[in-house]
Amino acid sequence: MNLAPASTKAWHRKHLLGIEELTREECAAILDTADSFSEISSRSRKKVPALQGRVVFNLFFENSTRTRTSFSLAAKRLSADTQDFSAATSSLSKGESFIDTAKNIEAMGADVLVVRHSTPGAPHLLAQHVKASIINAGDGAHEHPTQALLDLLTIRRAKGKIEGLTVGLVGDIAHSRVARSNIHALNKFGAHVIVCGPPTLVPRSMERLGCEVAHHLDDVLPRLDVVNALRIQFERIHKGFIPFPSVSEYLHFYGMTIERMRVAKPDLLILAPGPINRGVELTPEVADGPNSAILDQVTNGLAVRMAVLYLLSGRTHPHPHEHEAHAAGIKPGRTAEHHAE
Ligand code: NCD
Repeated sequence: MNLAPASTKAWHRKHLLGIEELTREECAAILDTADSFSEISSRSRKKVPALQGRVVFNLFFENSTRTRTSFSLAAKRLSADTQDFSAATSSLSKGESFIDTAKNIEAMGADVLVVRHSTPGAPHLLAQHVKASIINAGDGAHEHPTQALLDLLTIRRAKGKIEGLTVGLVGDIAHSRVARSNIHALNKFGAHVIVCGPPTLVPRSMERLGCEVAHHLDDVLPRLDVVNALRIQFERIHKGFIPFPSVSEYLHFYGMTIERMRVAKPDLLILAPGPINRGVELTPEVADGPNSAILDQVTNGLAVRMAVLYLLSGRTHPHPHEHEAHAAGIKPGRTAEHHAE
């Protein structure tokens, strides 16, 4: 019995640090494995012993609701032991360094460290200093790989494909790690990406990442199959720099409203990584409307994080303990060939 979809053979990495360095096949391996894991979440007993005995540590130095909870739950569904680390109440406040903190946590037997930090490259630094697997759960404005993967999975499920779609990333692109990871991921799968927002938040130089830059949402809206409404990252914007005159002007020019839905394609898919600011990036009618897949993203995020934890734990390659596969309760899922987009 196969432990997971055939495409997981493409996965050989110890860490997940960013989408940029992954191949399309590696991304597909995660998405296909996530498809297999989704079935587990629909069972009444939502638990398999795949990572029994493994220890997953959440090291979050920045706020999080969805991502941290999603990683914890994903690890628990795979029967790993999980532990949350809170920077606010740790010895960091007594001067202990980031690397020393991580090394101490590793000394308690952590196999995987899920790291969120406001400094770009912080997870990459840890990967050089500890033996555990590192998962980047967001590093400053750099990357947020699992968010991009769950966005891809949500698009693939809703549209049946990714290749050939036109995806608009709307809002604060300059300070968004979600935007950067999405651009890399969507390009690998052959989607056309348009980044759209005020010039203060969408510099022309973004074209270098392989996307179209637009400053007028109404001009590009009719071409879009997907809108991913990104939050203004006020925490990354320098004090005194005002990227747009007022919230009502932002909504007027860039917000997804019912009026804009009327001129968009009827099957326009609405995504948002959350937290959403109702009445800023999108109005409640759109956030809760029939085109919105915002809560599907949260559900898919759990499956993606289970897939990532599983693949990093190196249990996908043919090994002598086939009975483990059976015990893990994982059914072979769809293969990369099914998604040869
Ligand atoms: C995103 C993040 O933290 O980068 N949120 C998330 O992970 N769910 C986007 C955001 O905070 O706007």
